[in-house]
Amino acid sequence: MKFKIKIWRQKNAKAKGEFVIYDIDNISSDTSFLEMLDILNDKLISEGKEPVAFDHDCREGICGMCSLFINGEAHGPDTQITTCQLHMRKFKDGATITVEPWRSAGFPVIKDLVVNRGAFDKILQAGGFVSVNTGGAQDANIIAISKKDSDESMDAAACVGCGACVATCKNGSAMLFVAARVSSLAKLPQGKVEGSQRAKAMVAKMDELGFGACTNTGACQAECPKSISISHIARLNREFLTAKLRD
Ligand code: FES
Repeated sequence: MKFKIKIWRQKNAKAKGEFVIYDIDNISSDTSFLEMLDILNDKLISEGKEPVAFDHDCREGICGMCSLFINGEAHGPDTQITTCQLHMRKFKDGATITVEPWRSAGFPVIKDLVVNRGAFDKILQAGGFVSVNTGGAQDANIIAISKKDSDESMDAAACVGCGACVATCKNGSAMLFVAARVSSLAKLPQGKVEGSQRAKAMVAKMDELGFGACTNTGACQAECPKSISISHIARLNREFLTAKLRD
């Protein structure tokens, strides 16, 4: 297969970026999207040109590092996968593919397709840790938790923190990310104790770091590679209101 890859190139955070088009051919349909970028980079290096900077780590849909906006969609045209799980057979032979970094005030571009997602770490830090004594593993096993609650908690915990929700949201809101974190703990007895305070602290940090408000468009849920439901945002709102009423 052959493609025209239209990629956002930007030297550093302060430089003005621009799209550059590269031709690439001899790509197997079974090549992953990131492998295609590896092949492109090998070509650029052999031509004495600067390779394209992009984020990746596990390449198995686990770490949440790969973060590309492909043809106007977070993680590309497939659903419920991260960019590293996307394959070139999803594109037409000869197609032009546009590749951009996540675009959001909360995620400034560092270089090319790499953005700074340190804001997510700050939001997590604001949420704090579970301070109740949870005992050892055997103690945890004797706490009865309903199947429904444990399933909901695990579904929320599936969030890999990739930031697709923010990049997709027209408001640049991080509500789905925050909701997943709050919900995964609030549905369990050990995390419930501080659930409301955690929600209040994380929402305040999210606002402070420049993320927008949620207007319930549902775009985040549609593009989330882990299908995190926006019902978790409803739980976050409940926890947040509870904390405010307590105040
Ligand atoms: S590189 Fe880890 S999820 Fe894609």
